[in-house]
Amino acid sequence: MTEAIIRGLDFTGIDINPLAVLVCEAKAAIDAGADVNGAAKTVIHYLRTDIQETIDVEFNNRSKWFSDESAMHLSRVRRGIEQVADRAARKVLWTAFAETVRKSSNSRTSTYKLHIRKDDELVEGSRVASIFEDVLRQTLYRIEEYRKEHLAGRARKPKVRIICSDVRVAKLGKSAKQHDILVTSPPYGDNQTTIPYGQFSYLTLQWIPEIDLPAGWSSDHISNTHALDSSSLGGSKVGAMEKAETMKFTSPTFAAFVKTARNAGNTAAIQKVGCFTYDFLESLSQIRSQSSSSAHWILTTGNRTASGMRVPFDAICRDIVEFLGGKPIATLQRELPSKRMPSRNSVGEMITAEATLVAEFA
Ligand SMILES: C[S@@+](CC[C@H](N)C(=O)[O-])C[C@H]1O[C@@H](n2cnc3c(N)ncnc32)[C@H](O)[C@@H]1O
Repeated sequence: MTEAIIRGLDFTGIDINPLAVLVCEAKAAIDAGADVNGAAKTVIHYLRTDIQETIDVEFNNRSKWFSDESAMHLSRVRRGIEQVADRAARKVLWTAFAETVRKSSNSRTSTYKLHIRKDDELVEGSRVASIFEDVLRQTLYRIEEYRKEHLAGRARKPKVRIICSDVRVAKLGKSAKQHDILVTSPPYGDNQTTIPYGQFSYLTLQWIPEIDLPAGWSSDHISNTHALDSSSLGGSKVGAMEKAETMKFTSPTFAAFVKTARNAGNTAAIQKVGCFTYDFLESLSQIRSQSSSSAHWILTTGNRTASGMRVPFDAICRDIVEFLGGKPIATLQRELPSKRMPSRNSVGEMITAEATLVAEFA
């Protein structure tokens, strides 16, 4: 999104995770000039005067993840942000709040899965306000830097649309027949056994008022810690063998993978990879059916291990693109520079390289 709008290009983005969408909405609000400094002053002023000791949010196991003291201080910050009248500016403040929730919860910050911290790593509730103020200060600094660098002299104000939906059913609602560029880094497998983005977002999403979550978000997705991951690509194993059959027909690479897995008696790998790649095929079909006839796609993929077998997702992705009528024109390989981001999955296995496929639809 950022790369599109700094070039003045219209942008449509889709994600099933309300937190991912909220972060984009906040970035779009920053780009569009929302008064975040004014909003920050309102909250800071409010925090100097609120001495209420209520806890405004309750959910299953709340006291496991937040002490009463932390929950009380987080409630004050939450009430402070609610004082801000401008919704766009509030979105930015919720991202600073989200980081505060993450830093002050009883869940470790080193893993995507919810995992209780050791006693000596617990954060005192009394630190919540100062954590928020620190994050907010950094946010304001970065907003100023961004605006200095990117807003002056821009030829055109781009239109930004962020859709909170399962991409398999998303309605892109495009009007003009333009050349489309699709850029995506899809998940590399089902969230449960790669990166559980849903679990990662669960606590934060409990704390942000529903009214400020993106339009289209589903309360079902935050009803328990696994719901969002189960609804994400590869999250359901229903009809696994039928899905694998369709994928064999779509992708010669997947068919070869099934043969090897069968010889090894590894049905779990066939089901897991069949479901995920089928869902991915559905996603790309859905996008293709609503996009302009002429388009470029840029897809970044990584090859994970599933049930002990390396999955050639880069080659399967290429097969899917060809199946949909696209012509691969380049592949760029890159070693992952850092171990911090999605390179490490929830079972500790590393993805150390990524492949980016560039394809053309004429
Ligand atoms: C590796 S991250 C990439 C994020 C970033 N939007 C990008 O494309 O570079 C994969 C994203 O796919 C999203 N996702 C997974 N299943 C989805 C689905 N069925 N519909 C829409 N988004 C989904 C996850 O929530 C996660 O944010």
